[in-house]
Amino acid sequence: MKIQNQSYRTIWLDTEDEGVVNIIDQRGLPHQLTIEQLKSLNEGAAAIREMHVRGAPLIGVTAAYSMYLGLYHAPEDTDWSTFIPAAVKALQETRPTAVDLFNVLQRVQTALEGRSKQQELVKTAKDLAAEVAEESVSFCRDIGLHGLKIIEDIYENNGNEPVNILTHCNAGWMACIDYGTATSPIYAAHDKGIPVHVWVDETRPRNQGARITAFELKEHGVPHTVIVDNLGGHLMQHKMVDMVIVGTDRTTRNGDVANKIGTYLKALAAHDNDVPFYVALPSSTIDWTIENGLKDIPIEKRSGHEVKYIQGLEQDKLKQVLLTPAESPALNYGFDVTPARLVTGLITERGICEASEAGLSALFPELND
Ligand code: MRU
Repeated sequence: MKIQNQSYRTIWLDTEDEGVVNIIDQRGLPHQLTIEQLKSLNEGAAAIREMHVRGAPLIGVTAAYSMYLGLYHAPEDTDWSTFIPAAVKALQETRPTAVDLFNVLQRVQTALEGRSKQQELVKTAKDLAAEVAEESVSFCRDIGLHGLKIIEDIYENNGNEPVNILTHCNAGWMACIDYGTATSPIYAAHDKGIPVHVWVDETRPRNQGARITAFELKEHGVPHTVIVDNLGGHLMQHKMVDMVIVGTDRTTRNGDVANKIGTYLKALAAHDNDVPFYVALPSSTIDWTIENGLKDIPIEKRSGHEVKYIQGLEQDKLKQVLLTPAESPALNYGFDVTPARLVTGLITERGICEASEAGLSALFPELND
C-alpha cells in the first residue's frame, strides 16, 4: 500500500545490511512516520511487546524475522540446542492473544530442527520469514477478493447507494504486511469504483482506529469518518451502517473470535439491528486446538497507563496527557471474545464460510485433523 504515493510494506529486510530488518514504528502514527531498524532478537521482541508493530499477522512475521536476527547475530560457538528454544520462548512471551505468533514460531522451530550449522540455520529462518510474509500478502489479497463480493451485493441491493462499513481497531495493512484483513475488501471495492464510506471506531485505549485505520484510509483516498467507540450502536439503529467488518487475533475451531476490546459490543449491536457482522481472517489466525473462545483464549491484560493517558500532537511534538485522576486505578483488557452465533460469516483467503466448525473445516479440511 502507499504512503504519500510511495509503496511500503510494514516489514522488510534491509537491502544494504542483511543483519537489519526494517519496520514501520506505528507508535507515532498518524503524525510521525518512523522507519525503525531492528538489529537483534531482543529488539524484535521489544518491538512486538511495546507495539511498535501490532496486529496478528504482522506480529507473526516480526517474530519470524526476530528469530532470523537472533541466529544471524549469535556468536559462532553458540549452543543451538539451548539458544533456539530460549529464543522461541522469549518471543512467545511478548503478547498472548494473537495466535499467529505461536503458529509462526512453531513453523520456524520445525524448520530449524535437525540443523546445526549457523549458515544453514540463518538461511532457513530468513527464507521462512520471507515465505510467511509473502503468504500473508497473498492471503490478505484473496480475502479482499472474496469480501468484495459481499460489498458488491450490498451496493446492488441498496440501489447503488454508497456502502457504509463500520470497522473496529486496525485490521488494515498496518496490522499485516499489505492489504489488511478487514480493510482488504474495502480497498478492493474502492479500487473497483464502488462507493464505500467507512465508520472508523477510534478504539480506546490505544486508538488504533483513530490513529492507524484513519491514516491508512486517508492515504488511499477512501472516504471515512472517525467515530467514538460508543456511536456504533446508535448509527446501526438509524440504518447508517450496512455492514461491519473486523479482524481477529484468534479464531477457535467453532468460529468464536477474539479481537480488540469492544468488538463484542459491536457484534451485539449489529445482531440487534440486523446488520451483517463479518470477520476477515487469514487461516494463520485459526487456533484448531481451541473450541470455546470465552473459556480458552488467553486475553492480554495491559498496563492501566494506556487507559489513563492519551497521546496527541502539540506544536509538532507527540505528547501524552493524563486523562483521569492520577490516583484512579484503571483496568485494561486488550481483547474480547465474540461468540460465533453473532458472526454472519468468516471471510478467509479460501472464501466465505459460516462461523462454525463445519464451515471452517469445509474450507480447510487439511488443517483440521
Ligand atoms: O492490540 P493490537 O493492536 O495488536 O490488536 C489488533 C487487533 O485487534 C486487530 O483487529 C487484529 O489483530 C486483526 S489484524 C489483521
